[in-house]
Amino acid sequence: MTIRYDGKVAIVTGAGQGLGRCHAIALAARGAKVVVNDLGGSKDGVGASSEAARGVVAEIKAAGGEAIANGANVANYDEVEAMVQQAMDEWGRIDILINNAGILRDKSFTKGSIEDFKLVVDVHLMGTVNCTKACWDIMRDQAYGRIVVTSSSSGLYGNFGQSNYGAAKMAVIGLMNTLVQEGAKYNIRVNALAPTAGTRMTEGLLPQAAFDLLTPETVTPAVLFLVGEDAPNRTILAAGAGSFAVSRILETESVWLPLDEQTPEGIAAHWEQIIDPDGERELTAGFEQSMKMIGKAAEGLGIKLD
Ligand code: NAI
Repeated sequence: MTIRYDGKVAIVTGAGQGLGRCHAIALAARGAKVVVNDLGGSKDGVGASSEAARGVVAEIKAAGGEAIANGANVANYDEVEAMVQQAMDEWGRIDILINNAGILRDKSFTKGSIEDFKLVVDVHLMGTVNCTKACWDIMRDQAYGRIVVTSSSSGLYGNFGQSNYGAAKMAVIGLMNTLVQEGAKYNIRVNALAPTAGTRMTEGLLPQAAFDLLTPETVTPAVLFLVGEDAPNRTILAAGAGSFAVSRILETESVWLPLDEQTPEGIAAHWEQIIDPDGERELTAGFEQSMKMIGKAAEGLGIKLD
């Protein structure tokens, strides 16, 4: 069955080029009305121009789709609120939010400044928070919402020179993990994309032949899947060059140690058992970890819990 978005309104941030542009064009081609947001600055977040967003809107319209341009800086909550208001004035609802806008300030942790760190966190984490917050109550009231946060392998696994970016990209996973719980009863689903694509962000980092395989078009189907009616929830979907994978955070079973072994030496003695992957699993809420450990302690101590 073809997945379509007729009657749905989508906001795609950072959609003036690269992945966001591709997401916006694909959503519009499948029936969504799209707010094409882009601040239009440089790769490291300097300057602003509405040209890129307007260009993508023109492309969408030329193909018969519906779109409006917006130049909000996602790191500025007032501008984001105005963008959401623009979408509401135009189309009266917001069904899909793709938090895609991003910048880079790559430097080793030694050389990077606190200012750069804060700016990257501001755009990626607070940009995502701002846009999600501004749409959240609208989606709750509609009892429908599909939100994507854009993470990165740099956040999930680390990358030399990307401590600021990696921290921000993992932070959006933390945001997702709680929002899925708070949004569940309002039919709001939140998922994460971990893309790898040839864009200005990655230009020059890879041989041309590899870069050419990593077109944004090979990633966008993942995002379309994550914002469909039958989207999953709380999934970290990695996508690039036509491959798709799911990333998970797993926790080992846990080993309860008797009181006299609850010491650093006791942990060292049981280390192989503690890290044993047998029985490791994904927890669906922080509370599950507490319950697991309380259960283990009660069992070890022979205490009955009500
Ligand atoms: P890009 O640089 O081509 O596009 C990012 C867009 O975001 C630009 O058009 C830029 O003007 C816009 N933007 C930047 N700051 C903004 C702000 N404050 N407010 C509104 N718009 C703003 O980069 P690309 O590669 O398309 O990246 C898209 C997303 O995917 C980013 O979040 C990036 O971190 C993420 N990503 C990309 C990867 C890749 O391999 N290209 C890998 C992992 C994650």
